Parts: sequence; C-alpha cells; structure tokens
Amino acid sequence: MVKTIKSIARIYSGSEKNIALLARVLQKGGLVAVPTETVYGLAAHALDKKACHKIFKAKGRPTNDPLIVHVHSLSEVEIIAETNPLVKTLAKAFWPGPLTLVLPKKPCVPSVVTSNLPSVAVRVPSHPVFRKLLKKSGLALAAPSANPFGYVSPTTSDHVLLSLGTKIEYILEGGPSKVGVESTILDLRDTAKPTILRPGGITQKALEKVLKQKVYLNHKSAPSKINQVAPGLLTNHYSPHTPLVIKNRLSLSAAKKSSPNNAWLFIKKPKGILTKNTFYLSRSGNLEEVARNLFSKLRYLDSGKWSQIIAEKASGEGIALAINDRLMRAAAKRSL
Ligand code: TXA
Ligand code: MG
Repeated sequence: MVKTIKSIARIYSGSEKNIALLARVLQKGGLVAVPTETVYGLAAHALDKKACHKIFKAKGRPTNDPLIVHVHSLSEVEIIAETNPLVKTLAKAFWPGPLTLVLPKKPCVPSVVTSNLPSVAVRVPSHPVFRKLLKKSGLALAAPSANPFGYVSPTTSDHVLLSLGTKIEYILEGGPSKVGVESTILDLRDTAKPTILRPGGITQKALEKVLKQKVYLNHKSAPSKINQVAPGLLTNHYSPHTPLVIKNRLSLSAAKKSSPNNAWLFIKKPKGILTKNTFYLSRSGNLEEVARNLFSKLRYLDSGKWSQIIAEKASGEGIALAINDRLMRAAAKRSL
C-alpha cells in the first residue's frame, strides 16, 4: 500500500485580511513561512522561546545553529542588540535589504534564538509583503530559511509547500525572491574588524565603500581558501539529494560526450545546440540573475532523474562569491 502524507499548509495572499490573520498567528506563538527578498523564511515571535523552539522542530534543525531576527526598522534593532556607530552608517546604505549584522545581544532575546551565544544576528528586510506583516504584528521575527535542515533554500512559496507542507500550516505568498541567495552576514561586534561570515548579495567592496575601512572575510567563506576547507568543517549545507560536483569551467562538447544521466548546469547559456542534459542559470551570464535562479534550478534538477549534477562555478568577484559559496556547500555533503 502506498502511504500518502497530506500537506496541512495553505498559501495566503498578502491581502490586509490575511496579514491580520497571520499577525495573530505569530502573536500567539505560531509559525508562518514568509517571503523575503533573499529566500523564504520560517518565522516565529523572536522573544517567545516556545515559538522559536517550533522552528527548530519543523526544520529538523540542530539547536546549535542560531537564527536571524528580522525587524521592521533600525529603532527596533536597539531593543534586541547593542548597537554601535557603524550600524547606523550601514543601515542608511543597505536597510531595508539583504544585510544581516551580528551584534552583542540584549537579555530579552531568548538563548534558543542565539544558540546560547552572547551575540544576535539581525536584519531589516525589504520585501514589501513581509514588511507589512512585521508592522502589523509589531514583533521581532526570528526566521531561518524555510527549508528542511540541510536542503536547498526556498525561493518560492511552492518550494516551501513542497518541502515543509506537512510540518507547518501558514505560508505567506510574496512571489519569487528577487535576490535568490541568503543575506550577507557581517560580524560587527569589533568595529575595527568588521568580518563577513557569509557572503551574499551585498559585497565586500560595497561594504568597504560605505564604511570607508577594510572589511574582512571569514576564512571559511573566502573563495581562495574554500577549496582547502574540509567539507566536514562547513556547518551549513544547501544540498540537493542528487550528488552535485562543481567545476571551474564546463564545455558543451564535454556535456555531449558524457553520460545522458548527468545534468550539466552552466552559468551562462553555452553557444551551440543544447542537448537534453544541458541547463543554464542565465542566458547572458548576468550574475544577479544567476543568483536569483540558482536554488530554484537546483530544486528543479533534483526533482528529475539525474544521477549527478555537474555545475559550473561563477567567475569574478562580488556576488560570484555568494554563488560559489552556495555551490561549494551544496557539493560538500556529497564529497564527505
Ligand atoms: O537571507 C537570509 O538571511 C535568510 C532570510 C530568511 O532572512 N535567512 C537565513 O537564515 O539564511 P539561516 O538560518 O538559513 O541562516 C542563519 C545563519 C546561521 O546558520 C548562522 O550561520 C548565522 O546565520 N548566525 C545567526 N546568528 C548568529 C550569531 N549570533 N553569530 C554568528 N552567526 C550567526
Ligand atoms: Mg538556511
């Protein structure tokens, strides 16, 4: 007998009535999957520890992996974190938007949110529908990406429905995520040494330009060193179930010669006639578009019957770092 597991989740449009309903769900300690400009998140009242525990349970996430807290505006950051002059400068340039700051936490933040760390990660998101919910609820919302722990992050409401639909009831619709990779995380506890812990849409150069000082890259995320890091040291994975390998360059002729069971994922549409096993992330090679399409293409390929996905690295700096970081992590689990 085939056992079918029924989804309990429903997708809600961002109408005023629905926003009010979902705000009440959050105020009462429930979970709501929310659209953000980066990826969809799974949100709960950040100052309600019971509610935050539900996030870990729904995702199957270990409690030693801390959550990001989302607030409507800079003034609310001060309620949960100790700020410093650099926060204001960065907020002016990048908030609302895909930048997360790690700051010393205030006592009101439950330790489940920060995995017992004395710091908290916080950001002001720009997605208009999510902002409506933040405003209506009046809450700070803890929200990791809305995927089962270890799987590819979701960039549409359907992705959330497919992978968490049996665990959660409420999904807020906000269309496909515009950035497509998670926020840049900047550790700002030491103002003399701002350090990127996770590369994202906001680049090291852009941060340095605004701060007028050097911004460091945590060695685990640095592109030049990433190949040297043992996969087991990479704490996060964004892995499809299909084994994924990455290469510096792909060629159409190699794709044609390879097994038809291998899917070849190019950054830019290759010149020539594509075979059934060749795919690309952007027709022109535009890296913002590549980032936007990356997770949804990985999910799409993962739902096919490929025995392996062979993906090409992005070249260059800036957002290429974030793309390659996610590809490396997606591949890491498989090469353990
Ligand atoms: O774009 C994003 O940041 C998305 C959307 C939903 O906002 N969120 C997201 O959350 O990517 P998540 O849980 O997938 O990643 C959170 C990561 C943790 O795995 C950890 O690496 C880092 O943020 N983090 C959280 N709190 C931290 C802290 N106190 N110190 C250092 N890193 C922290
Ligand atoms: Mg995540």
